[in-house]
Amino acid sequence: MVAVILATFSTVSADPDSLQDICVADLASPVKVNGFACKTNVTADDFFFAGLANAGATNNTVGSIVTAANVQRIPGLNTLGISLGRIDYAPFGLNPPHVHPRATEAVFVLEGELDVGFITTANILYSKTIKKGEVFVFPKGLVHFQKNNRNSTASVIVAFNSQLAGTQSIATTLFGAAPPVPDNVLSKAFQIDVEDVVKIKSKFAPKI
Ligand SMILES: *[C@@H]1O[C@H](CO)[C@@H](O)[C@H](O)[C@H]1NC(C)=O
Ligand SMILES: *[C@@H]1O[C@H](CO)[C@@H](O)[C@H](O)[C@H]1NC(C)=O
Ligand SMILES: *[C@@H]1O[C@H](CO)[C@@H](O)[C@H](O)[C@H]1NC(C)=O
Repeated sequence: MVAVILATFSTVSADPDSLQDICVADLASPVKVNGFACKTNVTADDFFFAGLANAGATNNTVGSIVTAANVQRIPGLNTLGISLGRIDYAPFGLNPPHVHPRATEAVFVLEGELDVGFITTANILYSKTIKKGEVFVFPKGLVHFQKNNRNSTASVIVAFNSQLAGTQSIATTLFGAAPPVPDNVLSKAFQIDVEDVVKIKSKFAPKI
């Protein structure tokens, strides 16, 4: 009986359920709650976002850009447990290995072709090439990536079972933290010389 109850609860792994019809985020509220405080002055625009219509600029070092459509852009998503995003990829662009601590992600290909994959805690890589119209799923909390291995652009829509999935990009998290993760930690962890750690860190200078 206890096992059945535990098994039932263990399948619940999204944001908490809402207790009212709407709770549009007051992003400026000083009140700290799990999510955002509700505002009273609600309009239809609180549930609207046009920002996924167009491709984002991919002229950065990895050749990809994520445009988020989460509670920070759509305050009406507060307490509703979902969000979307769009990712654009330059030719040969990469969305580098990262995790979303609070959500499973489903990716739907709008254009192009991508090599995608995630790695389990047993260190097994599940990977596949997906093309326009196809879907792939990255389970909650697992390291995953998408790579455009073609000489043309690609784009996807992503869906999350969280209003704010959160992102930790592995390389930036470890080599671009402020204050920095000690060199000797990274040197031993990656089995490389401190000089190599310093070199990698120089490419991930923290934005402060
Ligand atoms: C409510 O929001 C609308 C649109 O943003 C604004 O014009 C109006 O002044 C606001 N009213 C109050 C009471 O804050
Ligand atoms: C990317 O391209 C835009 C538009 O052409 C330009 O304004 C911006 O400076 C470029 N950014 C980088 C990092 O090259
Ligand atoms: C990609 O396409 C461009 C324009 O067609 C071409 O100049 C370039 O050589 C191609 N690159 C590769 C790696 O195929």
